[in-house]
Amino acid sequence: MTATTRAERLDLLRAADYNLFRLPSDKVTLDFLTDSGTGAMSSEQWSGVMRGDESYAGSPSFARFRSAVTNLFDYKHILPTHQGRAAEKILFSVLGGPKKIIPNNTHFDTTRAHVEESGAEAVDLAKSYPTEDHHPFKGNMDIDSLRTLLEQHSSRIPCIFMTVTNNSAGGQPVSLRNLRETSELAREYNIPLFLDACRFAENAWFIKQREAGMSNRDISSIVREMASLCDGMTMSAKKDGMVNIGGWLALNDDALAAACSEKLILTEGFLTYGGLSGRDFEAMAVGLTEVIQESYLEYRVKSTAFFGQRLIDCGVPIVEPIGGHAIYIDAARMLPDMPKEEFPGHAIACALYVEGGLRACEIGTLMFGEAAVHELVRMAIPRRMYTQSHIEYAVEVCQRVAELAKQGKLSGFRMVKEPASLRHFSCELTPISYGEVANNVVEASKQADYSAKD
Ligand SMILES: Cc1ncc(COP(=O)(O)O)c(C=O)c1O
Repeated sequence: MTATTRAERLDLLRAADYNLFRLPSDKVTLDFLTDSGTGAMSSEQWSGVMRGDESYAGSPSFARFRSAVTNLFDYKHILPTHQGRAAEKILFSVLGGPKKIIPNNTHFDTTRAHVEESGAEAVDLAKSYPTEDHHPFKGNMDIDSLRTLLEQHSSRIPCIFMTVTNNSAGGQPVSLRNLRETSELAREYNIPLFLDACRFAENAWFIKQREAGMSNRDISSIVREMASLCDGMTMSAKKDGMVNIGGWLALNDDALAAACSEKLILTEGFLTYGGLSGRDFEAMAVGLTEVIQESYLEYRVKSTAFFGQRLIDCGVPIVEPIGGHAIYIDAARMLPDMPKEEFPGHAIACALYVEGGLRACEIGTLMFGEAAVHELVRMAIPRRMYTQSHIEYAVEVCQRVAELAKQGKLSGFRMVKEPASLRHFSCELTPISYGEVANNVVEASKQADYSAKD
C-alpha cells in the first residue's frame, strides 16, 4: 500500500485539478476507481499468454478465443475489439444516426456517448428505485415504458440494449424473466436486442441466487439462455473476461456483421485480431472459463457484500441490495443539503482520497449531467486483488468521511474546464470554498477541510 500524508494528498489533488482520473496511481493507497482491467490474472491465464500466436491472420489463439466466446454466447459473428467502447463505436456508427432512438435499461457513460456522437438519442428505461429499496432486480428494463416507446417510435429504433449488470444504476442485476419479456417485445417489433454484457457472470450469479426456479441451474446454462434471448452483444472483457484489455462485438445478422467488419478493419484491425495481440486472446479464453466458476462468483459477491454490510453497519448510506462489482455510496443521502450542480458525489470522492488515499468514481451529475438519476460514488472492487484487511481500512476511511459530511465540512465543486463529451474523465474542477459562486453551502464550505494545512 502506498503511504502518503494527508497534506501530500491535498497537494496532489490540487495539482490534478480535483479530477481523480488525473492522479498518479502510485499515490493512491487503495484504488476503487474501476473494476475495469484492474484485476489480477490467474497463473493459467499467464501460461496462456506464453503460447499466444501473433499471426496477422487466422491465428489459432483467435480460434481458441472464438470458441470460448461461442461456448457461452452462441452468435454467428465474433468481432474482436481492444475494449468495450470500440465495439460500441463500431455498432453505433452503423446503427445510430440522427433521429434514431436507442433504448437501454441504463446506458453506461461510454455507451451513451457513442449513441449521442452518432446523432441518436440515448433513452434510459430502468425504473428508478430509492437507493435503500431492496428489490432483487433493480437493473430491470421497465417493460411498460419500453412498450410505450415502441408503440410511438418503433421505426426510429434500430436496436434495443440491455446492460448486465446495470452499472449506472448501482451494479444491479437484470432477471431472466425481464430479459425474456424484453426479448419478446423486441421480436414482436422485429428490432434486434443487444446485451451490454460486461458483467454477465455476476448477473447470472444473481439470477441463480434470487430468481425463483433458478437455484439448481449451472451458471453457464443461465448465461447461454441470456445470450439466446438476444441478437448480439458488446463486451468489455476487462470486467467478466478477467483480463486487463480486450473486448468484442458479437452479432447474428450477416448484413450488419459485414458492415461492422468493414469498420473493424478500418479502425481496430483485421478480423482475427481486432485491436489485440494473440496472447490477449489466450488470456480471455481462459478468463471466460474461470469467471463462470461458482466458487469464484460466490467469493466475489460475498466479499463485495462484506464491504457493503460493514458500511451499512457504520451508518454510511449505500445502494441496496449490494451489487456484484462495487459499492455505491448514496451521496444525496450523505450530503442532503448540497445541490446536485455542486456534484455531491465528487465532493465525497475527493474527501475519500484526502482522508485516506482511496480513489473512487462519481456516478451522478458530474458523469451524466441532467441524465443522472442518483448521486452516487462508486467504489468498484478489482477482481482477485484486495484482502479483507484492505477492505477494513477502506471502511474506516468511509466512516470518517461520513462524519465530516455530517458536520458540514465537505465543499461542493464547480467545473472550470469542460470537454465536449465524457467530461468526467478530463474536466478540471475547483472547490466552491475557493470560488466566487454564492449559494447556501458557501458558509459550510468556508471551513472545508480542503483549506486545512495538514
Ligand atoms: C456497463 C458498461 N458498458 C460499457 C463499458 C465500456 O467498456 P470499456 O471500458 O472496455 O470501453 C463499461 C466500462 O466500464 C461498462 O461498465
